[in-house]
Amino acid sequence: MTIGVVGAGQLGRMLALAGYPLGLEFLFLDPARDAPASQVAPALHGSFTDPKLLRRLARECEVLTFDWENISVEALRAHAAAAHGARICPPIAALTAAQDRVAEKRLFEQLGIPTTRWRAVGSRPQLERALREVGTPGVLKTRRLGYDGKGQVRVKAAEDANRGWEELGRVPLIYEEWVPFDCEVSIIGARSRSGATAIYPLNGNVHSHGILRLTRAPYGPPRWQRTAARHLQRCLTHFRYVGVLTIEFFVLHGRLIANEMAPRVHNSGHWTIEGCATSQFENHLRAILGLPLGSTRPLGFSAMLNLIGDIPPREGLLALEGLHLHDYGKPPRPGRKVGHCTVVEPTAARRDRRARGLLAKLAPGLRIP
Ligand SMILES: Nc1ncnc2c1ncn2[C@@H]1O[C@H](COP(=O)(O)OP(=O)(O)O)[C@@H](O)[C@H]1O
Ligand SMILES: [Mg+2]
Repeated sequence: MTIGVVGAGQLGRMLALAGYPLGLEFLFLDPARDAPASQVAPALHGSFTDPKLLRRLARECEVLTFDWENISVEALRAHAAAAHGARICPPIAALTAAQDRVAEKRLFEQLGIPTTRWRAVGSRPQLERALREVGTPGVLKTRRLGYDGKGQVRVKAAEDANRGWEELGRVPLIYEEWVPFDCEVSIIGARSRSGATAIYPLNGNVHSHGILRLTRAPYGPPRWQRTAARHLQRCLTHFRYVGVLTIEFFVLHGRLIANEMAPRVHNSGHWTIEGCATSQFENHLRAILGLPLGSTRPLGFSAMLNLIGDIPPREGLLALEGLHLHDYGKPPRPGRKVGHCTVVEPTAARRDRRARGLLAKLAPGLRIP
């Protein structure tokens, strides 16, 4: 049984590593020769839109999935699905919605999921109007292709909007209110072909410069968990979703406000590899193959810290009791996620202490509640 994966980044690499014990094989497609997943599994090298390669992927694989949402829906449809009728999971409709921040906001509104106030911005007059109607502070974002905080300009006062427009305005934008959140959380769940669902404990996320730095899970009161799970369930049902889906929220005065969704395994779920009965990666594979979903029971209280820029000396890290290191095999580069580490502790208090210790060592200056 071979799973075809469009994109061979670290998410794909962890999918493959979760699939091998189940006896699965993988074939990746990625333009980069040294991509993280292609270091551990066979890969086709070429463009995500290459008709020949997409057809070959569809022909050689039972099911197609993706580890990166900024791939071409048109090319997938035209070459992978049409040519061989291959099954693509998660559904293309969910991918399409997640690729466009405006479509995503409309979806949240349609499903009764509270989200930020926003306006689509395609021209200067629309920008002026958005500023009037939504107010400041806010943030201008490209509708498409943003990740790790890229393609965003914060607007503290109206003057910043002009700079934002100069920087980003060649492509369609969205302007949304800035939420002075108390914290950020995300929820991850899987829905299988049979319609069964499995939802993970809530993740508490700390970002720095738009990039996820720390996740702690389980996190927050049961009420947040219930609300987030209800919103996620609505999206899963809406799309007759198959695979893993993630929604990110801001929490403000105890209210959950949806920020964005990702139709895939998610960085805030990496702790599930060691911290849960079944990882998000394994459950994604189980879901798309129609296998029974695994338990999402936490095995303790986890903290996951992203390694950004380069991997610190391994000796120092591995000397820390119970620390699990994941090195994605990427060349170092400032601002780039090159690995992560996870610790699992028996209590939330001990987990938080460890998280603070790790931050002091690896990300000095970042404070957590
Ligand atoms: N409207 C907002 N209010 C407050 N913080 C925001 C807002 N939009 C983005 N951010 C901050 O920037 C981070 C990255 O933005 P996000 O919209 O999730 O884009 P990306 O696709 O890059 O993850 C968020 O997790 C949050 O910390
Ligand atoms: Mg995000």
